[in-house]
Amino acid sequence: MLLELTPDELLSTTRAVRRRLDLHRPVEREVLEECLRLAQQAPTASFAQNWHFVVVTDAGSRAALGELWRSVADAYVGRRAQAAAADPVLARLSDAVRYLAAHIHEVPVHVIPCVEGRTDGRPTAAQASRWASIIPAAWSFLLAARARGLGGVWTTFHLRHEREAAELLGIPYDRVMQAALIPVAYTMGTDFKPGPRRPLDTMVHWDRWD
Ligand SMILES: Cc1cc2nc3c(=O)[nH]c(=O)nc-3n(C[C@H](O)[C@H](O)[C@H](O)COP(=O)(O)O)c2cc1C
Repeated sequence: MLLELTPDELLSTTRAVRRRLDLHRPVEREVLEECLRLAQQAPTASFAQNWHFVVVTDAGSRAALGELWRSVADAYVGRRAQAAAADPVLARLSDAVRYLAAHIHEVPVHVIPCVEGRTDGRPTAAQASRWASIIPAAWSFLLAARARGLGGVWTTFHLRHEREAAELLGIPYDRVMQAALIPVAYTMGTDFKPGPRRPLDTMVHWDRWD
């Protein structure tokens, strides 16, 4: 079932959801497939369609991925402890990350968007084309998920252990890159607000940078 959201509401309220993921409500495969079909409408360089989504529902695999994720999340929170003590926004983010680290294995679905062809060490143009052949699709997935009452958060922590995650899931590391790990669940409540963002004129450059 689709939420009643205008396109602008959908675009402005698809937030990073960590604490409001419903860890107990199963997510139907058909709903995930609907979101993935919509994700496939995103562009890829040269119409390559070189994208893949590894949708992890197996509890053992989620637990193992959770361990990889948690080890990096804990270090991240630890490194930022001092800064967070002085900044309530950072403190809130750290709390949310700590919460998700403690529960990530309980999130019913972990989605890992992947793209064929490694670009390690290659020129920026090659990297930009490759990453942009999966990231728009993965974001479309999250938008479609939000429209269906699901939520998640784009995360990259586990990529510090990309090779281990690849071995765990049978992803051919030498020819496939993982872009993210998106924990996905129904959200507790569906009311989300636009996130705080810097004023537009601090990041838009008309005609020239300066
Ligand atoms: C490239 C990228 C990497 C991210 N990696 C992580 C991550 O590893 N762990 C995490 O908890 N959040 C991660 N995030 C989520 C950001 O912290 C989140 O987008 C930010 O808090 C803004 O949230 P908002 O859109 O709800 O304001 C990542 C986001 C992006 C775009």
